[in-house]
Amino acid sequence: MRLLTSATAVLAIPGASAQLNKLAKAAGKLYFGSATDNGELSDTAYVNILKNTDEFGQITPGNGQKWQYTEPNQGQFSYTQGDQIVDFAATNGQIVRCHTLVWYSQLPSWVSSGSWTKDQMTSIINTHISNEVGHYKGKCYSWDVVNEALNDDGTYRSNIFYTVLGESYIPLAFEAAAAADPAAKLYYNDYNIEATGAKQASTVKIVTLVKNAGARIDGVGMQAHLIVGSVSAQSTLQSAMNSYISAGATEVSYTELDIRFSSLPATDSGLQQQATDYATVTKACLAVKACVGITIWDYTDKYSWIPSTFQGQGAALLYDDNLSKKPAWTAVSSVLAAAATAGATPATSTTAPAAVTTTLVTSTKAAATTTAPAATTTTATGSCTVAKWGQCAGTGFTGCTTCASGSTCKFQNDYYSQCL
Ligand code: G3I
Repeated sequence: MRLLTSATAVLAIPGASAQLNKLAKAAGKLYFGSATDNGELSDTAYVNILKNTDEFGQITPGNGQKWQYTEPNQGQFSYTQGDQIVDFAATNGQIVRCHTLVWYSQLPSWVSSGSWTKDQMTSIINTHISNEVGHYKGKCYSWDVVNEALNDDGTYRSNIFYTVLGESYIPLAFEAAAAADPAAKLYYNDYNIEATGAKQASTVKIVTLVKNAGARIDGVGMQAHLIVGSVSAQSTLQSAMNSYISAGATEVSYTELDIRFSSLPATDSGLQQQATDYATVTKACLAVKACVGITIWDYTDKYSWIPSTFQGQGAALLYDDNLSKKPAWTAVSSVLAAAATAGATPATSTTAPAAVTTTLVTSTKAAATTTAPAATTTTATGSCTVAKWGQCAGTGFTGCTTCASGSTCKFQNDYYSQCL
């Protein structure tokens, strides 16, 4: 009931910006978050949005906790960059997803080019993890313990860890992380595991592998580096999440979400498609109780990793290069608002219950959408048009009530109708 009241309050204030983390929490999730990086923290306008906990309740360091920075030479540890981000989050009261411990990339050459025995590699992994996780003990909501261990066909990626130890490096890493911080949620994190398929099936096997070895694995992180117009159906996304929960993970999350244009510039219709795609992912997370939150891989196109990796592609995030909100922001905000006002089932929390059931957070009332209710709950402010995904009616709402061409004002609940 308290959640409902708080979400209602946000939506009822005329002109109020219903913001992402506040709405995600009101909808029962733990957070809506963003990655960031050290260089960006000198951009005042950027930081002012990032530190607003109504908007972002969770931060992931995009680079600073990776092995190349934290143990550049064997036994020489440095946490300057990671600490800057973790301290930033702590100052603002934001949760931190810590990223990442064992990954083939951004690995210093002393590790990747060495010639190691099994015992030596075991010791290298144990030392790295116990030192880094120990350093951040109590500060990380979760750790991405092993990152990207799989090829797209579901086979194991060949890397120095696998070459020396085979798949046993994976449970070994989880065991070391659990010992160093018993309270942190331990995740396997990868891309192209958001939908069902060979890689998702192998991710299920990794969860089983770790558990069968007697080690703890709490979550599966779906990076979700997606492409506009190619996002899987919501039901497929939910099936993948449920497969990880059925295998014994207690939670899942979207850890690096961005949805890029494969060619630029983005057209208006492309931006609408991107909004639809973001809405699909958001709805999928809302529909699965164990999906604890969504992290976007930085919040603005200004600092996205994509253009430097995929030439000619990008515009993948919720804010544009000028830090203005895009249609996708409105879509995510609206989907969260609808769920928040419909009444929320809290996400699997830090106590990580072993529930495998899922809960569709949208109400049955919302599912049977009709046109907007009588104008008694709404006062229009003259002739104006609401863009698709925007709010068009609801108790206390005083904005525009006419939906843009191609969309209709649909009743979601007493407090919220939306142009769909
Ligand atoms: O730190 C050096 C700096 O000293 C140097 O002057 C500069 C010149 O290019 O490079 C800096 O390093 C860059 C680093 O980001 C920090 O900015 C690297 O070149 C660059 O390759 C690196 O890119 C990162 C990428 O991981 C590396 O794989 C991205 O910022 C980061 O967003 C990205 O994040 C990954 C996740 O960790 C795992 N999942 C995929 C995701 C996207 O690739």
